[in-house]
Amino acid sequence: MPIAVQITAMLRTAIVDGRLEPGARLPSWLDMAARLGVARGTVKAAYETLADELLVVSAGAAGTRVAAPRARPAMQKEIDQKIEIAPPLRGIERGFGLRPLPFQMGVPAQDAFPAKLWARLRTRAARDDAMAPVGPPDPRGRPELRAQIAAQLAITRGIHCLPDQIILTSGYRNGLCLTMLALHLRGRQAWVEDPGYPIARTGLEMGGMTVVPVPVDAKGLRVDEGMRLAPNAALALVTPGQQAPTGVTLAPERRAALIAWAMREDGWIIEDDYLSELQLSGRASPALAADDTSGRIIHIGTFSKTISPALGLGFVVAPLALAERFAEVAAHLNPSPNVTTQLALADFIADGHFLRHLRHMKALYRERRDALHARLGSGIAVDSFAGLAVLTHLPKGVDDMEVARRAIDRGIAPTPLSIWYSDKDQAQSGLLLCVTNLRKGSVERACETLQALIDQPSAQAI
Ligand SMILES: Cc1ncc(COP(=O)(O)O)c(C=O)c1O
Repeated sequence: MPIAVQITAMLRTAIVDGRLEPGARLPSWLDMAARLGVARGTVKAAYETLADELLVVSAGAAGTRVAAPRARPAMQKEIDQKIEIAPPLRGIERGFGLRPLPFQMGVPAQDAFPAKLWARLRTRAARDDAMAPVGPPDPRGRPELRAQIAAQLAITRGIHCLPDQIILTSGYRNGLCLTMLALHLRGRQAWVEDPGYPIARTGLEMGGMTVVPVPVDAKGLRVDEGMRLAPNAALALVTPGQQAPTGVTLAPERRAALIAWAMREDGWIIEDDYLSELQLSGRASPALAADDTSGRIIHIGTFSKTISPALGLGFVVAPLALAERFAEVAAHLNPSPNVTTQLALADFIADGHFLRHLRHMKALYRERRDALHARLGSGIAVDSFAGLAVLTHLPKGVDDMEVARRAIDRGIAPTPLSIWYSDKDQAQSGLLLCVTNLRKGSVERACETLQALIDQPSAQAI
């Protein structure tokens, strides 16, 4: 954040919280600038923004003072009254913008992100973008990046598509939204994996679909069960590469059965390829959409796991026959975001950094996973390796939600397995321990803390 914006935010919060009372005099530009070690003009700009927001009044030589509350706009008054608006995803995310804790899912290794390189590419992209003639941007996203992704998909996922089949999005969830808008599936049934990604399950319901949980076993989605439970479903949402959360790969015969069902019933298959080829054991199998001839598969990718969720970029590969419809929907309702980041990412891929980064991350995560496995071995039962996490089952009677809740206060963030189940009666109690941020120095303490939590009787039982 630019420094002036930071100063504005700091003062705004202090005024709105009441820590700086009406009438209080702010330090002069010069004093404030000297205290913070910034230029005088930076402080001046911050004060001017606050004056525009009617939070302060400037009285020339008499300095700048905090304005009386009545002079503040309506929204500010609402904040004054301390109306609390709950953040989304309560029960799934412990908060937003927080420093990741050991075992926390959804965040890549913070220490291995190529921050300098990325900053350089972004700076260059921002400059190029600012200098370029301004025409209406392509709602499908920058052609340079779509071409790079098409080439990348051919190499790493076996998908052969035209760049114009690719629509850039802000990530997987945005891709799901675009797909729902394009396919008009409101009121229809959708198979979802059980256990499966809870956010997508709720997302489909928000889009007006009825979700039908279909069990997952050691070969992935039970396609036979899906056909028994809802043969006429309009959609099957699957994570065939590495099932979320179990990590199993959809077996070849199940892949064939799923595609055959879609062709027979005119069903759609959404492939959530959230980990792409970021597979820690063995080699990643090709995507379900690889060499697809059915035309029924919508492949959704994201850079949230392979690079960082902070990028806010992903993509949809529309079947050839739907490419124009997806593009129209993007143009009318969901144009691609983050143009500067798109340009930086196109360079990141074109210059070979992406594949190199993936290779490093695979090696690093494998190392971290093995270190965790070795350390857990004695006390905590490891069930399996599951994507970027290790899955442990808990002893009978130990509630995974309760353990996860208490864990946060102790500085670790395991994910309870039971939140991934649609049918809570069928839910197994376990913990997903993500390895991405488990640095060498923190494994021992994180495991000791976890062990103590599992061994300890719950707070309620005491
Ligand atoms: C199964 C699954 N799909 C997709 C995503 C990524 O979503 P997005 O790109 O919207 O951050 C996640 C992230 O946790 C996930 O677990």
